[in-house]
Parts: sequence; structure tokens; C-alpha cells
Amino acid sequence: MTDVYAVIGNPIGHSKSPLIHLAYAVQTGQDIDYIALEAPIDGFAAKVDAFRQSGGFGLNITAPFKLDAFAYATELRERAKLAGAVNAMKFEGGRVIADNFDGVGLTNDIQRNLGFRLAGRRVLVLGAGGAVRGAMLPFLEQKPGELIIANRDMQKALALVQQFSPYGEFSAVGYEALATLPAFDIVINATSASLRGELPPVPATVFSAGGIAYELVYGKGLTPFLRLARSTGIERVADGVGMLVEQAAEAFQWWRGVRPDTAPVIARLTIPLL
Ligand code: ATR
Repeated sequence: MTDVYAVIGNPIGHSKSPLIHLAYAVQTGQDIDYIALEAPIDGFAAKVDAFRQSGGFGLNITAPFKLDAFAYATELRERAKLAGAVNAMKFEGGRVIADNFDGVGLTNDIQRNLGFRLAGRRVLVLGAGGAVRGAMLPFLEQKPGELIIANRDMQKALALVQQFSPYGEFSAVGYEALATLPAFDIVINATSASLRGELPPVPATVFSAGGIAYELVYGKGLTPFLRLARSTGIERVADGVGMLVEQAAEAFQWWRGVRPDTAPVIARLTIPLL
């Protein structure tokens, strides 16, 4: 019988997850179906209960339900626990095992697809929200030479430092301090500013000519952040399409025990940054 998986969110019409997972299924010969589920904002648990009762094997969770999924899980893997958010689940009888592959999707995209090793590099991450919390452990595991978080709200950034300092060394600054620091090898925009066409107050001096500017948001073309980076003559700019495809590959492997090839799927979903 075909095993059924789904992505759950609200809204969900824009999700690329069905396309990605069905491409992986064809590629690896796995007999699965993968659908999109929209739950009412206050109806996450009921929708997931119904999906499990109908025989669902596992879920990806997208906005705004990553915290609901955290609360729903019966077993949290360490990354999800630290992120305080869940983006993948698998169901085994009464067990709801939950993980968060967003951060490892990001580091895999940067290292494997962009060919940029994080070890020893100077890394700047903009933002201190859920996306950054999910990425901290995978980032620190790569042992960057220096990792700095910049956020408008310093309390939030300092709370992150406190939470993650047992896992590696990094620091937090306000945006105004960035102008006084040397350029970074990679600058990652993990704020939600680009979703509203806004630019975080980051000075152009953070970008280095041979470096990378990475935007977590995908499919929006050149965001104000990427435009600013490009105006400095930076060699490479990237959006989060590779992160999306890589986190999906992690979930697929976790569910099915086989590793799909992400390259053809990234090629299919990439919108050129012109
Ligand atoms: P997500 O889960 O996408 O990270 P979030 O938890 O709401 O969303 O966090 C959004 C992040 O984007 C925050 O770090 C926020 O900064 P503050 O904590 O200082 O508010 C950041 N952000 C949103 N809009 C921004 C903007 N225009 N400039 C700079 N940072 C912005």
C-alpha cells in the first residue's frame, strides 16, 4: 500500500514540498504519496489527529504551526528541542517523533551546494527569531572561526547567546556596531524583513568581495538585502531554495531510509537572481 505523507500549514497553496517529495519518490523508487493539508489557525492538533487516523505516516510542518507541532510531539530530537520548533514528524503507533531539519538544510546548502566550508570562516547572521534559533546548533557544529548575530532587539539576541553558548562560541551585537567590524566571509539574512520588501539596517561594509550573501527567503528574486550585497560587487548571492530542498531531503531520508539527490530538484525550482 502507498504510504502517505503531507505538509501542513496555513496558507499552504504556495508550498513546494509536494513537488519536492514526489520528485524524490520517483527518483528513489519509493511508493509514497505526499499531499498538502491546510489546518485552521486554531485547529492544528485536530487536523493532525485526523491525518494519523487515516493512516498518515509523517508530516512536514510549516508556518504558522512549528510551535504547535513542538507541543504536539511525544518525543523531541535534540535539534527540535533547542530550536523550540518542529518541522518534521513521524508517527509510530502512539509515538509522535519530531525533529527540525531547517538548520541542517541551511548548512548543507551552504557547504555542499555552494561549496563554502563554514569552518574557520567569519559568519554574520542577521535576526534572532525562530529561523535563527533553528539554525544555531547546525552552525556551531561546523565550527566557524567567528559567528556574530545582529538583531534590532538585543534582549532576544542575548537570550540566544545564553541558550546556545554551551554548544560553541558566538556573540550578539546591535546593527549599529556592524559598521565598526571587518567584512564577513558570509552574511545570512535570517530576518523576516524580505517578506515585506524591507531591508535590515545592515551597512554595505559587512560584505566582502569574495564572499557570499545568503537570503533565507526564496522565490522572491533579488530582495533589498541581496540588491545591497550585489551593489558592493560581492561575488555570490543565493536565496533559500537550496535550504528548502535540503531540509526536505533530510526528512525524506529520516522517513524512508534512502538519500535522494537534491541537485536536479534544486535546478528545477531555482528562479535566477537577476
Ligand atoms: P522567524 O521565525 O521567521 O525568524 P520571527 O521569530 O518573528 O520570525 O523573527 C523575525 C526576525 O526578523 C526577528 O529577528 C526580527 O528582529 P527583531 O527581533 O529585532 O524584531 C527580524 N526583523 C523583521 N523585520 C526586520 C527588519 N525590517 N529589519 C531588521 N530585522 C527585522
